[in-house]
Amino acid sequence: MDSFLFLLLFLGTPTLYLAYGALQSRLKARKYRMPPRVPGIPVFGNTFQVPLVQQGPWGKELAEKYGEMFTCSFGGNTWVFLNSSRVVNDLLERRAAIYCSRPPFPMTQSIMSGDSRIVLMPYNDRWRAVRKIMHNILAGRSQDTFKPYQNLESRHLLYDYLHHPDKWYIANGRFSNSVIMSVVFGTRTDLDSEQTRELFETIELFLENQQPGVNIVDGFNILDKLPKHLQWWRPRGEKIFQKTRKVYKRELDAVHARIKAGTQKPCFAVDFLKQQEGETKFSETQQLFLLGTLMEAGSDTSRVSLGQIIAGAATYPDWPAKARAQLDAICGVNAERLPAWDDRDALPYVTAVVKEGFRWRPNIAEIGAPTSLIRDDEYEGYRFPAGTIFTWNAWAIALSEKEYEQPERFLPERFMDEHLNNALKGHWAFGPGRRVCVGWKVGEMNVWIAIARLLYCFEFEEDKDHPIDTMTIPQITKNAAPFAVKVKVRSEKHAALIERDCLEAVNTRY
Ligand code: HEM
Repeated sequence: MDSFLFLLLFLGTPTLYLAYGALQSRLKARKYRMPPRVPGIPVFGNTFQVPLVQQGPWGKELAEKYGEMFTCSFGGNTWVFLNSSRVVNDLLERRAAIYCSRPPFPMTQSIMSGDSRIVLMPYNDRWRAVRKIMHNILAGRSQDTFKPYQNLESRHLLYDYLHHPDKWYIANGRFSNSVIMSVVFGTRTDLDSEQTRELFETIELFLENQQPGVNIVDGFNILDKLPKHLQWWRPRGEKIFQKTRKVYKRELDAVHARIKAGTQKPCFAVDFLKQQEGETKFSETQQLFLLGTLMEAGSDTSRVSLGQIIAGAATYPDWPAKARAQLDAICGVNAERLPAWDDRDALPYVTAVVKEGFRWRPNIAEIGAPTSLIRDDEYEGYRFPAGTIFTWNAWAIALSEKEYEQPERFLPERFMDEHLNNALKGHWAFGPGRRVCVGWKVGEMNVWIAIARLLYCFEFEEDKDHPIDTMTIPQITKNAAPFAVKVKVRSEKHAALIERDCLEAVNTRY
């Protein structure tokens, strides 16, 4: 009998909480007018319709059916999908001041991130403080800080491609990670580094858990009020938190050890730790997540973007030929020298390639990132309650014929216009409004120097036995390459240039 009562309590209490939460949001919705609703089931709404990974095609199909906006409910949360640049501009850009908070994420933010991951923070003083610190290191004069490291690490990248073409994807990860590690921790990363592998594992754990529908409590926030011992997701979340913390702390401990040994290079972490000795210091967890987020966000995004452009080169070989003609005109048909930062103005087509890479198949956030509305608002006859979640439907917009001609094609020419040098204009890869990616400049520069040099020295061919389905390239791959591609150096002369110019970059140690 006791165990029957326990079972009743164990299953019954969450069900009551769920039904109460769903009823509350239904009653609230009556006072407002929302865009067309995608039909769902009672209580759970559309929770079980959204795929757990690769939601882009799902979001695109619904956008084609419902038009510029549609409404879904994931558990107790109401989401409005914005499916055109027009409405994203109107709401998330022009009204950014009220469309810029984040909904609660009891699992991924509170438990897995100790409430300390900037990307999930509500719009409050802590977000402002963390964002300001990140902005100072990533924007403004960041170009001057990052350029020498991007130069060094991209030469290491070419050497890796020449000697380990089968490890091209790991080499992209090492490159992106090593740039940010150099600036933040004053240290570099090796190709087969166990630490980098573990870091990418924690990033993927976060991304996997962040997908709508994966964690019931992130959809039904009311379940967070259950007594902790009834929260069956909590032990798993706490385990991920401990693992993530360990991965971040290892880097900080290494900085302390190097400081003690007198071998630490000047870097952001050293300055940050000194600042933190003052009165308004963050908790240790917040310090770790600030530094850790820089590592994570700085590594994965550039790695994935580089992969997308390589997939575009292998499947649409016409544009790499044009890019190479421009590169050859500057650096010589006989591989005289590598393209460099000073060549940027003379290589507009490469800049367009990078922008097209960001647009072509949206990176990381296939259905955008959720932003919550701070107060009630009205728009074109609709009335939205505070707390409604909005997202730019990234895949649907990027692949819409109403937005782009032949959207499925990799076509750098579409960006050869007066906005070419504005990396944020013409696509939403870095997100809109106040939550726009704080590292966009560093990300764009990473991809630019790496792609200019890779295109100059290598060719990328589709493996006919394993064709690339560019609509389903996975972004969570457990460190494996997301597709097969043949990497070939362009000529003996290009190979010699890499040997001559890049070995030193591999051997540089700090
Ligand atoms: C290829 C490069 C990159 C892409 C495509 C990219 C994309 C994005 C996107 C889509 C968002 C969410 C925007 C939103 O919520 O509206 C974001 C946020 C963010 N990104 Fe990036 N990113 C890139 C590079 C970087 C780099 C290099 C860093 C740092 C080293 C970085 C740090 C961040 C941070 C901290 C946020 C959270 C901002 C906030 O919530 O206030 N990103 N990024």
